[in-house]
Amino acid sequence: MSECRVLVTRHVFPEAVDLLRPHVALTYHDSRDGMTPEELAEAVADKHALICQLTDSVGDGILDAGAELGIVANVAVGYDNIDIAAAERRGIVVTNTPGVLTESTADLAFALLMATARRITEAERFLRAGKWRQWEIDLLSGLDVHARTLGIVGMGRIGQALARRARGFGMRVIYHSRSRLDAGLEAEFGVANIAFAELLAAADFVSVHVPLTSETKGLIGAEELRQMRTTAILVNTSRGSIVDEDALIEALRTGVIRGAGLDVFASEPDIDPRLLELDNVVLLPHIASSTVATRTTMCRIAAENVLAFAQGREPPNTVDQWRL
Ligand code: DGY
Repeated sequence: MSECRVLVTRHVFPEAVDLLRPHVALTYHDSRDGMTPEELAEAVADKHALICQLTDSVGDGILDAGAELGIVANVAVGYDNIDIAAAERRGIVVTNTPGVLTESTADLAFALLMATARRITEAERFLRAGKWRQWEIDLLSGLDVHARTLGIVGMGRIGQALARRARGFGMRVIYHSRSRLDAGLEAEFGVANIAFAELLAAADFVSVHVPLTSETKGLIGAEELRQMRTTAILVNTSRGSIVDEDALIEALRTGVIRGAGLDVFASEPDIDPRLLELDNVVLLPHIASSTVATRTTMCRIAAENVLAFAQGREPPNTVDQWRL
């Protein structure tokens, strides 16, 4: 391609634009507000490549507007913001950033598990509000993590990284996944693949690590929550819509489960106000992969995918459904 025209829809770490600038004709919309669908449609009209983020919805409309598009590079491992079938129909390659955010995301999933079990953010709110009068035998008593059972739903890269952490904390790990790990990995992680319903019934902590698809939307609803222990904690760092938020709120209010640690929500950045009223939830603004190093690398990987496309090479990270 003589000159590849690339659109970057919103602010990224500078490494990505530094990498691309010498090689392509770059339009960098360096804003934290991103673009409206109308602005995006207009800006993509003459572009060969699009670097977007999960806040950009890329469906038929945008792909029609980008008649010359050959690649959409998402700065995320999840790509439910992109209509993959619509891209495929047009022969447009879609890439993501797998692998590089595995460890940071697993760190945060474990942090949420700990924070919810030990009521860390609730305790800090209590202290900051000047409510701490004295040491008390049952002050903000939480749940133990060691020797408890962690159920991992989705045993891709992030699920496996979480399993390693859990083993280090002396937890028993069970998992449920579409594809079973090979026996060597199961032995290495000390894990067993069991039926979803069995996992829900047996786990003290349930952590979700599947991509959002039509099959996983609402995977954890009222029925699944009822199958969990009343002392169980749900952790979600994948996508909000995998959990039925109404059912979860009801379960948290009525003691069907003990608590939840959530980094993702159904309608980000809008949070259901009923969640904000609950003390048995820890709520974070979708930051699981947000370390400087990891987010920088994610931006660089997206740029590398576009650069490969611009130079007529195969982009290294074409999407691979079901592996987070
Ligand atoms: C992803 O990559 O899909 C995360 O949700 C954002 O880092």
